[in-house]
Amino acid sequence: MKKLTTPYYLIDEIKLQRNLQIIERVRQASGVKVVLALKCFSTWCVFDLMRSSLDGTTSSSLFEARLGREEFGKEVHAYSVGFSKSDIQSVRKFADKVIFNSLSQLRMYQSEVKGIEVGLRINPGISYSHFDLANPARRYSRLGASNPDEIMKSSALFSGVMFHFNCENDDVENICAAIDVISENYGSLLEKMQWVSLGGGLYFTKNGYPLDRFCQKLKSFSEKFGIQVYLEPGEAAITDCAELVTTVLDVIHNEMDVAIVDASVEAHMLDHLIYQTTARIAAPESGPYPVIIAGRTCLAGDVFGEYALSARLEPGSEIRIADAAGYTMVKKNWFNGLPMPAIVVQRLDGRIEIVKTFKYQDFKRSLS
Ligand SMILES: Cc1ncc(COP(=O)(O)O)c(C=O)c1O
Repeated sequence: MKKLTTPYYLIDEIKLQRNLQIIERVRQASGVKVVLALKCFSTWCVFDLMRSSLDGTTSSSLFEARLGREEFGKEVHAYSVGFSKSDIQSVRKFADKVIFNSLSQLRMYQSEVKGIEVGLRINPGISYSHFDLANPARRYSRLGASNPDEIMKSSALFSGVMFHFNCENDDVENICAAIDVISENYGSLLEKMQWVSLGGGLYFTKNGYPLDRFCQKLKSFSEKFGIQVYLEPGEAAITDCAELVTTVLDVIHNEMDVAIVDASVEAHMLDHLIYQTTARIAAPESGPYPVIIAGRTCLAGDVFGEYALSARLEPGSEIRIADAAGYTMVKKNWFNGLPMPAIVVQRLDGRIEIVKTFKYQDFKRSLS
């Protein structure tokens, strides 16, 4: 393979297909419908592969809903923390379901969405999140209606509800217990509903996840209330199927070797800065050579992490940063005017396709 110009995001369709096969298995064994959360992954050049394994998309804005309709098709769920009137007037053209974040938004726009299925996000007051920043049940949370009496009184206004309260939850017993709490607290509401979404944040494509137990729980929940259950995976659908491929530009020594690559955490893998996590290195392998790998923006903390690698890095060495699909490509930005990583796909048949490159004009046009 000819060496491609770095930096680029490389999506591997064979790895993606593995996640999709697990999703298909869950759909078949449990009867749930599964919609892709576009907020996590919107790189539509692989939607042709994803389409047959999923029931549609869910969105967090008008633009995502429109992208779901235009590029994915199937069911389009439109949710937003806050719709404007013009959002609603546009989104109703794309959406099969409009899900409101509050009863006040639902009442405000109910006359605008006649003929479309309406849903309400409910905040069940439980959460599985390692970070307060991503905890929908945190104090003063604005994410979802939380007054059970008020929700019940308005139940004639909607036919479905959405609960999103997980974040990379890989503990099946924990999700089973949460489903029991929801059944207990909202059982009489669920009996009146046609559908319920359990949101995203469930790490069921992880190796060793007890899929049978998971599917059995989803199925019995659905049967108990005679209701269609949805899941909204983002991360679980695309986990571990992309890399950010970079080249070392310089190695400086300041107590330790520090390799500076032609990409950046802040511009190209922002979540590691937000959540203060360390990026995983897909290549080179681990070994005896200690090194810090850092980005090339002016931010002092633009650092991927500290590693021990099999080779001593030097200018020209290639470094592949793992897990570069979820909440990564959707958050890339033009900070410092750095070159935007291209989007490259390795198709199922092994063919490498450079799908998108970015130029100076893209940077310039994004600002004025
Ligand atoms: C309402 C909703 N659904 C689905 C998701 C997708 O979650 P994940 O990517 O963790 O599966 C999110 C993520 O924040 C969300 O807010």
